[in-house]
Formats: sequence, C-alpha cells, structure tokens
Amino acid sequence: MLGKNDFYSMKKNGEAISMVTVYDSAFARMAEAAKIDMLLVGDSAANTMLGMDRTAGISMEAMCLFTSAVKRGAPNSYIVSDMPYGSDTEPELALQNATKLLEAGAHAVKIEGLPLKSLEALREKKIEIVGHLGLLPQTAKSFKQVGKNEEEAEKIIEQAKILDSLEPCAVVLEHIPDTLGEKVSRAINAPTIGIGAGRQTDGQVLVMHDILLMHPFKLPPFAKNFANFWEAGVNAFRDYKNWVCEK
Ligand code: KIV
Repeated sequence: MLGKNDFYSMKKNGEAISMVTVYDSAFARMAEAAKIDMLLVGDSAANTMLGMDRTAGISMEAMCLFTSAVKRGAPNSYIVSDMPYGSDTEPELALQNATKLLEAGAHAVKIEGLPLKSLEALREKKIEIVGHLGLLPQTAKSFKQVGKNEEEAEKIIEQAKILDSLEPCAVVLEHIPDTLGEKVSRAINAPTIGIGAGRQTDGQVLVMHDILLMHPFKLPPFAKNFANFWEAGVNAFRDYKNWVCEK
C-alpha cells in the first residue's frame, strides 16, 4: 500500500496523485482495482449517499460507518476520512473523533480550514492529516470560486504554508484559480490535490458520483464524468421491471 512518503516522492518526481471519493465497499473495491492512489471517504457522503443539501449535516457515526465499509472493500488502499463539521473545533474533541475514524479504518483524517490547535494536537499524537483549503463546503456561504483577489489568494498561500509545517500527507485545494493552485503547489513541500484548482496541482480528486455520472443533476463547473452510470442504471432497472412484468 502507498503511504505518506510515497506521496511526497510522487510530488518530487512529478508523478500525478489520483484520489477519488468512495463511501461503500462495492465502489471502494472498484477504485482499488483501478489502483487509485488515495481513497477519500468524503463528507460529501451527506449529499451523494444521504441526499442532504449540505455536507455539514453528516454525523461522526455516519462517517465511521462509511469508513469501515470502504476499508472492507479496499483493504490495501490508503484511506483518508473527512472529519465532519463540528468534530474538530477543540483539540481534545478532534483527537477523540480522529481516533474513531482511524479505528474504523482510515489512515489519515482530512480537516477543512485551519483549526490550528486541533491540527497540532493530532500531529503531536502522530495522527496523519490531510489539509483542505480554498472553498470549504462545511462553512461556505456560496459555492463560487475563492482566492480570486490578491488578499484572498495570499491568505490561502499563508494557510498552506502553516499546514505544510505540520507535514500533512497532502493538502486538498478546492475551487480556486488555476494560477493559485500552481502557486500553492510550488510554495509547499506537501503534495497538493486539486478539485477545481487547475492541472498544475500534484494530484486531482473528484467526487465518485460525478466521475461515474450517477445522478441526473448538473455537474459542478470543475467536475468531469468518465461514464454514464445514471443512464445505464435507469435502463437496467427498466429492463428488470419489464422482465418481471413479462411472466
Ligand atoms: O467531501 C468531499 O468529497 C471532499 C472533496 C470535495 C475533496 O472533501
């Protein structure tokens, strides 16, 4: 299985790092078979799996359940699990919740923004972390691109440098200008994984339901689909229904 040192080496050697979200055993097995470098049990499960409007609605219990399912489906993959909204506000709370995700099967936990004391507490206990900067869906008021003006861009670069000093496994950069994605990637040692941050980040992550097109909704501007599971699924269910009715 790949680990943190491999991700840093990949960055150094210019090899792109692939990450996808997965939430259950069946799709985790598929992602492992495709040799995806890192699996993310994202809190986007709130939207994709639970039909909620916002990622902030998901609980720790649900994140642990999804993480354990992914671990069973992909026992040889590097698994990163999201710390859900409110689970990392205080160092002690962050430690307790990160431990639950590790016990469920995660190798690292991803935290949105920069709750520095909590991040430091995790690193002191040698818990691997993945940062997440740029658009922060747990607390965002809008889903527009961020980091467009100089002040915002500088803030993201500064935050990335602070995170870098904690030696994270990676830093996710969401929905920022391509130029800023490149700048941050050059400014820090940790690998950057972009989602809507241009092609010059050290890796890319997308939500599984967008990659496979598992829904009838409009894709976010930065997402890309590589299959049409929605059409295949609806057709298969229709064919099944016709077969049932044919008897
Ligand atoms: O939860 C999630 O899917 C994420 C990605 C957008 C990176 O955090």
